[in-house]
Amino acid sequence: MKCRKCGGTAVLELRRHNAAFCAPDFLDFFRNQVREAVRKYRMLDKDEHVLVAVSGGKDSLALWDVLLDEGYRTTGLYLDLGIFDYSVESRRKCEAFAAGRGVPLIVASVAEEVGGPVPVIKEVTRRPPCSGCGLSKRYLMNRVALDRGIGVVATGHNLDDEAATLFGSIAHWQTDALARQSPALPSTHAKLVRRVKPLYRLSELETSAYAFLRRIDYIVEECPFAKGATSIAHKEILNRMEDASPGAKHNFLFGFLEKARAAFERTEAVELRECARCGQVTTGTICAFCKLADQVKRTL
Ligand code: AMP
Ligand code: FES
Ligand code: ZN
Repeated sequence: MKCRKCGGTAVLELRRHNAAFCAPDFLDFFRNQVREAVRKYRMLDKDEHVLVAVSGGKDSLALWDVLLDEGYRTTGLYLDLGIFDYSVESRRKCEAFAAGRGVPLIVASVAEEVGGPVPVIKEVTRRPPCSGCGLSKRYLMNRVALDRGIGVVATGHNLDDEAATLFGSIAHWQTDALARQSPALPSTHAKLVRRVKPLYRLSELETSAYAFLRRIDYIVEECPFAKGATSIAHKEILNRMEDASPGAKHNFLFGFLEKARAAFERTEAVELRECARCGQVTTGTICAFCKLADQVKRTL
């Protein structure tokens, strides 16, 4: 196998691009895909301060690594979900990465903010852990960014994550979710920061290869609550499609973004208010996060 760029020995074959690359040219390819994502969706200004949400996994640490290489001013944000050893270990990976690169990392604890860690939230709400967890993550990312005067949060969602989310939303025809599915979500209120996903053009295989070649130490284990999640089943279905026809995942997601997404955009604006309790944005009177925190504190 020869590198498409230099003709040297390739270390990685990317079937969907019908190409193989040597290590340095693969790293170049990876960075170019991030640049293309940033350019196409006008995700970041060159001198902008970016809050990078890091979970300790390969995707978000690879993202932080690329953004640092590209010269962005970044601060990391790790949200401690309190999920047993998984959280202890993933926090360590983020702290080690930040210390190694000499960059700031903010750590916020869901247990402190909500009144209990994710396993307790799961028991109290009797809902799948990912629902309280996802709500808390989105809320805290936005609030930390606002508190620090940072206008944009970047997450490590990759092509496989985005295609699986799209698959799930289509399976249930969740039209609101389809309207929101985008590599870049603009700010629609002074108290909502932009959210961007600069890795949406890169597959899980590609982010793993990048993290490996860059010697990034990341947590390999998945969250223990992820087992049996429907998103994993959707990823498996998409992987089977990809095996049969390389590029299937890419076409599925990119086709939606280019040809179909606009059809789901709402024409009437949703009225946004500020939560009477915490001042964050909500469509009601009290935001979902404050309601969750109330429920947890009442029960404990
Ligand atoms: P997930 O929802 O676990 O697939 O993660 C998607 C993205 O959300 C990751 O790439 C991170 O950017 C961000 N993220 C997930 N978990 C955390 C966490 N505990 N702290 C900060 N950011 C996170
Ligand atoms: Fe949220 Fe697993 S990361 S429940
Ligand atoms: Zn609130």
